[in-house]
Amino acid sequence: MKSLSLHNKQFELFISKEEISIIISKIANNINNDRIVDPLFISILNGSFLFTADLMKQIILPNTEISFVKLSSYTGTNSSGKVRDLIGIDKDISGRNVIIVEDIVDTGNTLDHIMDSLESKNVNKIYIATLLFKPNAYIKDFPIDYIGKEIPNNFVVGYGLDYDEIGRNLPCIYKLKE
Ligand code: IMP
Repeated sequence: MKSLSLHNKQFELFISKEEISIIISKIANNINNDRIVDPLFISILNGSFLFTADLMKQIILPNTEISFVKLSSYTGTNSSGKVRDLIGIDKDISGRNVIIVEDIVDTGNTLDHIMDSLESKNVNKIYIATLLFKPNAYIKDFPIDYIGKEIPNNFVVGYGLDYDEIGRNLPCIYKLKE
């Protein structure tokens, strides 16, 4: 499908299935080559579900573990603003090498909340893997270890990414028509 309509907005094909598959193999190779010891992959739901599934099939590191988590809605405020917690980490992950698996990093605010909530867990090292990255929107400083593809600031849907909760099931990635 070259174009489609979601909630009355028009989208056009942006990243094909074939390209997604090439991008994911590249990320998997890079992670495998880094020989991360006993890695714990933490997949951020909902958007990362397809990416995580395809990525994990190509990870060949020994003792690989996968956890699926969600960021809560805002739970309170502190000096740095609103607070969100990671829901779904129910065991001790201290000392672990964690790889955050994200669908897209835009401003980096979501990543900020994730890093905040991991801070108290005393993990050994945190790596970040994202399928898509919008460098022109990013306002944080965390280095992103594994980037699938850098994209302009267009709104995209498909392959896990939604537009108002629909479009996640699409096998390719589409961008909003201008
Ligand atoms: P950030 O907090 O601005 O980095 O945005 C991260 C989250 O916003 C992602 O995990 C997505 O859920 C959502 N998001 C950002 N850009 C897009 C987009 O182009 N399409 C769909 N969702 C997006």
